[in-house]
Amino acid sequence: MPVEKAEFRQALGHFAAAVTVVTLVRDDDVPAGITVTAFSSLSLEPPLALVCIDKRARLHDQFQIERSFAVNILADDQEGVSRRFAQSEPDQFREIGWNPGPMGAPLIQGTICSIECRVVDLLPGGDHTIIVGEVESTRIREGKPLLYFRGGYAALK
Ligand SMILES: Cc1cc2nc3c(=O)[nH]c(=O)nc-3n(C[C@H](O)[C@H](O)[C@H](O)COP(=O)(O)O)c2cc1C
Repeated sequence: MPVEKAEFRQALGHFAAAVTVVTLVRDDDVPAGITVTAFSSLSLEPPLALVCIDKRARLHDQFQIERSFAVNILADDQEGVSRRFAQSEPDQFREIGWNPGPMGAPLIQGTICSIECRVVDLLPGGDHTIIVGEVESTRIREGKPLLYFRGGYAALK
């Protein structure tokens, strides 16, 4: 018997995760993003990383083979950025600085790291899709990460 949803959620909340915003340029050329904690490195050779995207998320269908996306690892003063990209709104990047990465995916300013990838695989994962990306470029900066722990934002001491 699988565990109840609420119990699973509560248990998962004990896994402190860095908060990222995964960005891409949509089919209609509009930059967009989604707040994601389900990010992981996957392989060193070749350099692969993955994110898990809810099938119901508005951006889900935009993750297509060969498309570039960026994983922007937020700094501890970017809780507002996390909240912004966890909602659907028409002008997501309003007052948020960004510039296109070498492959064109939006790199958000002020993050501690941005990792630009190209989608190489889409794998089934229950109600999510596992998006596998080959890493094409990285950008790092000083600073501490924004964390999510037991249903709330947290920071390293
Ligand atoms: C801290 C945090 C972490 C999240 N992590 C994920 C995630 O890993 N994968 C995902 O698909 N959605 C994740 N979400 C939910 C999305 O950011 C978004 O809220 C959801 O897709 C609903 O918006 P939409 O329907 O407009 O896409 C997370 C939200 C928050 C606040």
